[in-house]
Amino acid sequence: MSSPRVPPANSLAAGVKTLEFTGEVLRLLDQTKLPVAEVYLDCRTSAEVALAITEMKVRGAPAIGVAAAYGLVLGGQAYLAMAGRDASCVGLLHHLEQVAASLLATRPTAVNLGWAVKRMLRTTRRLCTGDQTPADLLGALRSEAEAMQRDDVAMNKRLGDHGAALLHHGDTVLTHCNAGALATAGYGTALGVIRSAVAAGKQITVFVDETRPYLQGARLTAWELHKDHIPVTVIADNMAGYVMQQGRISAVIVGADRIAANGDVANKIGTYSLALLARAHGLPFYVAAPSSTVDLDTPNGEAIPIEERPPHELSHLAGQRLAPEGITIVNPAFDVTPAAYVTAIITEAGVLRPPYEEALRGLVAGAARRAG
Ligand code: MRU
Repeated sequence: MSSPRVPPANSLAAGVKTLEFTGEVLRLLDQTKLPVAEVYLDCRTSAEVALAITEMKVRGAPAIGVAAAYGLVLGGQAYLAMAGRDASCVGLLHHLEQVAASLLATRPTAVNLGWAVKRMLRTTRRLCTGDQTPADLLGALRSEAEAMQRDDVAMNKRLGDHGAALLHHGDTVLTHCNAGALATAGYGTALGVIRSAVAAGKQITVFVDETRPYLQGARLTAWELHKDHIPVTVIADNMAGYVMQQGRISAVIVGADRIAANGDVANKIGTYSLALLARAHGLPFYVAAPSSTVDLDTPNGEAIPIEERPPHELSHLAGQRLAPEGITIVNPAFDVTPAAYVTAIITEAGVLRPPYEEALRGLVAGAARRAG
């Protein structure tokens, strides 16, 4: 065995903060500026958090969920400052319901956003009936958001360890978009599996699709892995079939924005094509996601809302026009991979194999039990 490349203790996996709540601001690593500059953006209001999510300053399903939770805390702080001595728990709840609506309107596909917002509102309603002051209630909401942030990292680490067992020393993994520390509260899902395999002493090489049109693969995944000294090669999206045909890929691992009750998976546009290519080449196609990404209320992939992003994100690159004016552009941000193409779903509770319906129900029930 050649010497493993274990991420250093101060690496991104352990260190750089995708998001941080200081008590007054939500500080985000501005992902639109990477990899050229590491710039932090301070959001002081819930409206600024909503805008940061819409503009993809923070992105990735679990990360936008945690950001929205802190957006509600900022919204609650604004209410207390505005209402002064007239503040009440019911008033706080009504205000937060409006803030929640504006956060939910930002990006429709990733279910973690709705999951986090609903959890915060549930806590507010539960505590509203007690004899808490509005300030106490807000303190509890801050603790809830902090718990979500901590739990996400812990879940990703558990998920990573389960997934690492599926990888072999010397494997080359193909991934798409960014399902790493930047897309979560830390560590990552698909990249968490790779990080855990590397930490266990396996030599893993990563190929990453550049991920047109927003280039999360080339800009973000390559940046993260390179920072962690994990060998990474960027390819254009249309090269995936070629490298598989050449026998250079051992497995595909991607993240997810929403997993429907039947195991259909919504993820970054281009994921479905990768799943088909993996099947054609006899390669395993793994989805790595925490239980917060599973949506039992959505029966199948057809019911998942697919976000349409603005045309200029496709027609322009770095401000430069690529396509002629006056033509039609379609720019769906996500696609759905049918469960039949998914070899396994890697979660914090273990590796789920098809058929997924019952396994996903068990996963969500277990997570709800643990959360009390
Ligand atoms: O549009 P984005 O960049 O938010 O899309 C992100 C993805 O599709 C990720 O693969 C997904 O959110 C999983 S992140 C752990």
